[in-house]
Amino acid sequence: EKAGFDHFMLKEIYEQPKAYRDTMMGRVSEDGRSVVLKEIGMTAEQIRGIRKVHIVACGTAFHAGLVGKTVIEGLARIPVETDVASEYRYRSPIITPDTLVIVVSQSGETADTLAALREAKRNGARVLAITNVVGSSVAREADDVIITQAGPEIAVASTKAYTSQLIAFNLFGLYLAQVLGTRDEAFVAEVLEAMHKLPEQVEAIIEQAPVLKQVADSISTHNNLFFIGRGVDFAVAQEGSLKLKEISYIHSEAYAAGELKHGTLALIEDGIPVIAVITQKDLYEKTLSNIKEVKARGAHVLGVVNAGMEEEVGKSVDELFVIPKTLQLLSPTLSVIPLQLISYYASLARGNDVDKPRNLAKSVTVE
Ligand code: F6R
Repeated sequence: EKAGFDHFMLKEIYEQPKAYRDTMMGRVSEDGRSVVLKEIGMTAEQIRGIRKVHIVACGTAFHAGLVGKTVIEGLARIPVETDVASEYRYRSPIITPDTLVIVVSQSGETADTLAALREAKRNGARVLAITNVVGSSVAREADDVIITQAGPEIAVASTKAYTSQLIAFNLFGLYLAQVLGTRDEAFVAEVLEAMHKLPEQVEAIIEQAPVLKQVADSISTHNNLFFIGRGVDFAVAQEGSLKLKEISYIHSEAYAAGELKHGTLALIEDGIPVIAVITQKDLYEKTLSNIKEVKARGAHVLGVVNAGMEEEVGKSVDELFVIPKTLQLLSPTLSVIPLQLISYYASLARGNDVDKPRNLAKSVTVE
């Protein structure tokens, strides 16, 4: 059932182009100019009444929520807070009937996420679930459900479920923008056109797996590394760091690039690998100055950049990985792919059980 792949994780990484297509299928109008989300029962009036959004999830799904925050705030201009589900209930969150709570869960069975959903409903909020499993507890209890069509995910480390959640957030963000009129039809059509190109672009990245294997082989000899980025690139950096820790057992930290100098820079020493995600044109100069800071202390820097930025960034890093050109908004759906592959190959190089990392379970049903 691994269909010729050595591990489910690799198979699932390769299934992402299909997962993107399937998650978009039936959710775009025939002329390609608008998002159709028949599964959303909220009326236009109810959507106009949303004053704030809370996104609540655990682990990788939480990291998808961090990207979701940028997408929804950027497209619909509604303020969004993000919480890890195990913290949400205990901070007395201010949940009001005009709050939309979005829970994100691949399995739909994560205990903390389910408890957060129930807390939200008890306080009169409307709950939207983004989940991969039809009929799961989260799907059954939410008011509205967007099913990510990633197909079954077997490897403990989430890959295609995460990227499908990103697709779902983009669709939902565009949908809100349509209803609220915060973006015009031409803009929505442009984003959808770019989204339709993503599956092929993911394939193009996967074709470069041998290069990423080399990067991973050299990383696998280290015990510490850093991921840095700004804005959504920081969100992707956090996901890359979690994935690496989870399956390679190499310690890493994700840092907002501008925060390094407030303490963490003390940990940068000769030879330490730093992976910098740089896909946002308006932020790259700032991140480049942070790269100079770590390079001056001996770090070996891999830059993951959007096509078109290789010249500006290339001079400042030791290695460059270029993702195909897409809209800045959509870049997480591509920039995370090389990080997934690096984690996979680093785990392999260390001789770990890639699909079943130690101490972890696929579905966490205890709080
Ligand atoms: C990491 C991973 C976990 C899950 C988390 C939530 O690769 O898979 O961090 O994302 O346990 O699980 P779900 O999405 O099923 O609620």
